[in-house]
Order: sequence, then structure tokens, then C-alpha cells
Amino acid sequence: MKKAITIFGSTGNLMYKKLFPALHTLIEKKHIQEGSKIYCMARRDCTLDDYIEDAKKQVKEDLNWDIIIPFLEYIIIDINDKNDYSALKDKMKSDGIEESIFYLAVPPKLFPMIASGISESGLINKGENNKRIVFEKPFGEDLASAKEINKDLWNYFDENQIYRIDHYLGKEMIQNILIVRFANPIFEHTWDHTTVDSVYIIAKEKEGVMQRAGYYDKIGALKDMLQSHLLQMASLVAMEKPKTYDSNDIKDQKVKVFKDIKIAPKDVILGQYDGYLDADKVSEESKTETFVFAEASIQNDQWRGVTFYFLTGKKLGENRSEIIINFRNPSIDGDLWPDKTKQRNQLRIEVAPNEGVIFQFNVKEPGLSNNIVPAKLDYCHSCQAVGNTPEAYEKLLLDLIQNHRTLFTRWDEIETTWNIVEKISKTTKPIYKYKDFDDVKNEIIRQFGDDLNDL
Ligand code: BG6
Repeated sequence: MKKAITIFGSTGNLMYKKLFPALHTLIEKKHIQEGSKIYCMARRDCTLDDYIEDAKKQVKEDLNWDIIIPFLEYIIIDINDKNDYSALKDKMKSDGIEESIFYLAVPPKLFPMIASGISESGLINKGENNKRIVFEKPFGEDLASAKEINKDLWNYFDENQIYRIDHYLGKEMIQNILIVRFANPIFEHTWDHTTVDSVYIIAKEKEGVMQRAGYYDKIGALKDMLQSHLLQMASLVAMEKPKTYDSNDIKDQKVKVFKDIKIAPKDVILGQYDGYLDADKVSEESKTETFVFAEASIQNDQWRGVTFYFLTGKKLGENRSEIIINFRNPSIDGDLWPDKTKQRNQLRIEVAPNEGVIFQFNVKEPGLSNNIVPAKLDYCHSCQAVGNTPEAYEKLLLDLIQNHRTLFTRWDEIETTWNIVEKISKTTKPIYKYKDFDDVKNEIIRQFGDDLNDL
């Protein structure tokens, strides 16, 4: 069957940074077969050759362009012009396309316009299960705009034709969370407030906003990272066991968590790195946050009394995403051993750049003493893979091609996560200026105490 992937926004950052490398791997591994088409849609008036020359400069990875080029078509589109959608439809017909994915790698404010063009031209009709439409995050700029967009989409498409991306869900170790939890009774049966003390959900970035300030300055870290990636990670950590591993059963449990998560605005620190205001396209007076720290609780029987901490931001000195489960301190009363230096058990799920699971526990110090020292069981996930583990976008594009929905977000996930973030962003918080992670950490400890020293 001849397939097409049509990408709107194909001169954008996402295309060059993530989609081209992912498409390259899928072509190399023959998941995108000969005869398929990748239609690169954009406003820029140029030829396919110009587009390819530019893409080669923008894409950092060393790709074998010879295997990609035969699939590419560059199509100029004015997204307001219905004729351009009809022309695309004719083109697909003459290319003999039988199955189509339309990927909107554009800012959310353009979703309704493009979706209506696609629907009205008949590029996708309701009920056609060989057509899918994909939306990049953020889905909307706030709860109201997300609802508005979604209402439009449901007018044009069936829910099972709509795919909403959160690329963290495609990361290997995020897919691994439910396996670590539910395929190991040792964790499954210790996963609640009786054993767990706190959970850290962390996504630190080294770079600043780079060329994305035009987008970022209107969005900020709360909407760019917390509403999507960090809350998604938390839901996989905190959800109850789903009835089955079916996409909807998993999503039902995730939504329950989103409804129970509480973040009081007073328990949030928003920061902005020094130098942000000098970035191109950032307004001089910008109050946009490039850093968020939040203390949260999950108001249900499983998690009552456990604190969830979220930390994300740009210019924090390193790229590191991970989930840390801190178990409760070992009991001191009635202790068997005189040595009181035992450390708490800790489970770290390393998401990026390392991929793995590390479990910290206590052992006897080697030698003649009876001292207790911490030790680690360290599983390196990427070391087990032949070659590299797949990048998130490779997995997501493959699931799109194969019509697997589990790693995409359902509308009620979007709605409930916007609800959480909305409550924070509607309150004006002072913006804390920081130079580096040490600054941020000092402020966290000042406001939330020494316990967070190991962040
Ligand atoms: C994106 C955000 O969704 O995720 C970016 O818009 C952020 O601001 C990026 O840099 C981080 O993703 P990754 O996969 O590079 O950790």
C-alpha cells in the first residue's frame, strides 16, 4: 500500500532536529517502503533542491541523504488558501497514495486553520481509517484555547483519527516505567505511601532557548514542559495498575492521577536565566519563566503523604531527565545494628542522556568492620541494545505508521493537565533570576528545606 507522510511546518526546528533523523532511520530500516512519499509543506518559495540544500545545513546529524531524497517532495502552501489543499489532494491521487498521515509540526494557533483545510478539501473524511492527523505539543496555549481547538477537531475528524504528540512518551525509559513497576513484584508491592517518601521528576537542560525564542517567549516552561512531559512522567509513576495494557485502559488510569494531582501556587518557584532577555525575539520586559520547581501531592489513598517534586528548566548546566523514587528512611528504633548510617533505598529511572535503572540499597562494608554502606544495582538499558536505542520520534513515527495509539495523548489527558497548570499560571509569581543550577538549588533549599539537597 502506498503511504504518504505530509508534514506542515517542514522548514521548522522540529523537522530539522527530530523528524529528519527519525525518518532517515525508518527508511534505513525499511519501515517506510519504496514508493511512499514524504510531502514537505511550507510557505517558503523555493525548489526541492533548495530545500534539500538548506536541510542538509540545518540537520546536525550525519544522514545518508541519498536514501531520503527519493521520498521527498517540497510543496509550497498558503495555509489560508483552500485551493492549495485541493492541489495536494490531486497530487496524492496522481501519486497513487492509499494511506496518509498529516503531521502538524506548527504552533497550536495554526492547528484550526490547517485542520479545516484538510477536512474541507476532503483530504481526510470522518470514518476513513487509513487517514490520521497528528498534532505536536503544546496542544493549545491554555485550557480555553485547547478546548476550542479540540472542539473544531472533533467537528472535522473522529477521535481515532487524531494523534496528539508528547514525544517523552516515545522515549525508551518512559515506555519502561510500567514494566519496571508491574513486571517486578518487589516494586509493585512497595509502591505507595507506606514505603515511598518522595518522588522527583526532573528534566534539566543545558542550553537556553536558542532560535526558538519566538515560540518560547509566549509559552514558558510551565506550558512547554510541565503540562506535558513532566506530568506524563508523573502519571506513569503514580497510576494504578491498568485492567489491561490496552491504550484506553492505561489512559483511564493516567487521567485519574491528573485529577488527583494538586500543586498550590505558593509551592512553585518560577525562574528566568540571566541573559534570556537578550535573546532574539524575546520582549525586553519578558516575565516568561525558563525554570519551574513545584511541590505537589496526589490526593488519593495510594499517595497520601508522599511529596512529588517537579524540576525543569533551561541553562541548568546539564541535560538530564530522570525519575527518582526515594523510599522511606530505614527504621532506627529497635534497630538490629549499632551503625545508624544507613541510607534510604532509592530507585532512579534514568531517561536521558543515560538510559537505565539504578537501585540503591544497604550492605555491610567489605572488611572487618560491621559498618553499613550504600551499594548500587545498576542496569544500563542502552548498553543492552545493538546499536543505539531508538530515538523517541522514531518510535512515535513508527507507531503512527502502524496505527498504535498507546503513546499518544487522549483529549482528557490534555484537558486535565491544562487544569493543573492553569491554576499555577493564573497567579502572578515573582520571577527568580538565576545564573546556573547552584543558584536555583539554593533557592529551592531556602524555600523548601535541606531535604532537597540531593536534587
Ligand atoms: C520540547 C520542548 O517538547 O522538549 C523543548 O518544547 C525542550 O523546549 C524539549 O527542549 C526537550 O526534549 P528532549 O527530548 O530534548 O529532552
